[in-house]
Amino acid sequence: MTTQLPFIILLLVVALHVNCCNHHLAMGLSEDDRMAEYHKRGYVWPLERMVPDTPGWKRILNRRFEQIERVQNTNDRYNGWLAFMASALVASNYTENGWGLTRAPEHITKRLQERLYMTLGVAKKIEKELCDDSGEGCVVSEEEVLEPIGWGTRKEHFINVIEAEDHARPIMIHGEDGENDDILREMQPMFEWWSGIELRPSIAYGIRAYRNDSNLLMHVDKSSTHVISGIFHVDRSDDAEPWPIVIEDFQGNTNQVYLAPGDVLFYESSKCFHGRPQKHYRPVNHNQDINNEIHYAVPKHWNKLKQPTNGIDEMVVVGTSFKEPNCKNLLCSLDETHEQSGHLVTWHGPAPRGKIVTTGWDPVMMTPPKEWEEENYDGAKGDASEAWNVLGITVEDEL
Ligand SMILES: *[C@@H]1O[C@H](CO)[C@@H](O)[C@H](O)[C@H]1NC(C)=O
Ligand SMILES: *[C@@H]1O[C@H](CO)[C@@H](O)[C@H](O)[C@H]1NC(C)=O
Repeated sequence: MTTQLPFIILLLVVALHVNCCNHHLAMGLSEDDRMAEYHKRGYVWPLERMVPDTPGWKRILNRRFEQIERVQNTNDRYNGWLAFMASALVASNYTENGWGLTRAPEHITKRLQERLYMTLGVAKKIEKELCDDSGEGCVVSEEEVLEPIGWGTRKEHFINVIEAEDHARPIMIHGEDGENDDILREMQPMFEWWSGIELRPSIAYGIRAYRNDSNLLMHVDKSSTHVISGIFHVDRSDDAEPWPIVIEDFQGNTNQVYLAPGDVLFYESSKCFHGRPQKHYRPVNHNQDINNEIHYAVPKHWNKLKQPTNGIDEMVVVGTSFKEPNCKNLLCSLDETHEQSGHLVTWHGPAPRGKIVTTGWDPVMMTPPKEWEEENYDGAKGDASEAWNVLGITVEDEL
């Protein structure tokens, strides 16, 4: 699909929705009361362990804690502490690595692509006035933008984790009532296959079309609702530059994943910092009060500002997300001149069908290590049979 418009990446974005617990407890809670709860719950600093307590995970988060102690703005610093405590300790992990990549059922990909082409939008020329300070006046230039058409299509509200000018704001295609929910329900066995736990689906966002010049800062999602999540890559324009999803895993790698249309990326979205949106589920019996719990876990010294220190990269907190402004691509592990890039692993879709690629697999061949292959290892924790039903794979099929 060629649009004459650069950089369009199209994703199905689905989220579990819970209304009950989103109030911000920190407001109206005195610091003394908060600390009383902190001690009552047995929290300590430095942390005695992390969740999971792997060397790589501890390396990622200990570095972040050093950075957050040097963020000047008090609000930003507290928000950063909340995000990092959730990721490091308070939220549980459900899988070994926190992410996996597989192929979506073809009939669902097709259905989504059809909907996309029907409603995506029309190219429209707008006039833009460019003025300079020299007093030379202004020039009017023409620029092509994409305007959404069709029912249930709108420009995304401004979200602070997406840094974009108005013309670059993603377009959200909700589709007909129930359409997204149907897909969420249909794909649930695949998410349970990956995570090995029983899940409860809820609201599906729709297809999000990213456009030239937008980005999505690294963040974790709200722990009360976004636990087991997925990104469905629907399609992209031929002129779109490859735009990887970045996801950190429990072994300390930064995975840079180039999805192909029809790929699905599973990930634990309230644990693993990632840049780009998603499909969300939560486990049955999941504790939805966890958002409050995180406030109690922040140690007392969050309010002490440390001086900038050589060797500790500057961090900027933007709402619930962060960036490292002095590193290329706003993340030091994506900057090949930075030592953190030693932990970068790059993956290219299309993903294999009926298997879930993850950390430890060969990133080029997308095959599991030999010793796992011999046991027919498919990369999932749960039983594959229902997922394979959805995929239309029978036992006789050669994978
Ligand atoms: C959490 O991650 C650790 C480290 O990879 C792993 O050993 C553990 O099994 C994971 N927990 C679950 C419930 O999968
Ligand atoms: C995309 O955005 C970048 C940054 O603003 C700009 O330099 C580039 O020209 C844009 N691409 C096109 C083809 O419009």
